[in-house]
Amino acid sequence: MNSELNSADLPNAQAVFIHDDTEVLSTAVARRIAALAAEAIAARGVFHLALAGGETPRRCYEKLRHHTIDWNQVHLYFGDERCLPDGDASRNDSMARAALLNHVAPPQANIHCIPAELGAIEAAARYALELESVGKLDLVLLGMGEDGHTASLFPDNPANTRIEAAVPVFDAPKPPAERVSLGMGTLNAARNKLFMVTGAGKRQALEQIMRGVALPAAQISKAEWHLDHAALPIMNVT
Ligand code: 6PG
Repeated sequence: MNSELNSADLPNAQAVFIHDDTEVLSTAVARRIAALAAEAIAARGVFHLALAGGETPRRCYEKLRHHTIDWNQVHLYFGDERCLPDGDASRNDSMARAALLNHVAPPQANIHCIPAELGAIEAAARYALELESVGKLDLVLLGMGEDGHTASLFPDNPANTRIEAAVPVFDAPKPPAERVSLGMGTLNAARNKLFMVTGAGKRQALEQIMRGVALPAAQISKAEWHLDHAALPIMNVT
């Protein structure tokens, strides 16, 4: 793990780690998650972890299966969910179950899925209530889309400025258009925030963030950014 960029390159970042490729990044982030889990459980007897959706985290989740984590003390949440029927293969919780949860089998009561099948408004209201009893999340895992969205907070979408713990999202440019997301405030309030960003498709958004464009991902403060080389912008060296 090395850090060619420094935090100054990514405004708001707590630390930036550059990895050779997705495999190396996934190994390092799985190790980091296990360490944060041990730290939280030792300090407070519980680890509240919000999982990221999309494809990037899949390999990290597969690797996390092999770490020694007391899953009975881990409560799992989701940074966002797509409004699709429960069990739909395209849901973020379906990916997390296939890559990790079905293999480590935390108590069912510890898996807090977003009931997105109820529709964005009802699901966000219920999830916001559920989150109220949690307080701070210990770690929020995040991806970033090619447009700089994170969770389901997309550029210029009214959901970004809502103050509820969980917010309904409509007109998302990444299908499905209807989603539920943790609110920006909830994401920022987490004890630790960790981005996994890989692939050349993310270069442009990263470059915009480095130039100070306030894309949604850039509005997450004091996050650890884990990037692979392919995602690094080819900045004009002045
Ligand atoms: C989703 C995710 C979304 C994802 C980014 C990156 O529902 O798609 O929550 O925020 O993290 O779009 O997706 P990839 O990891 O697939 O590039």
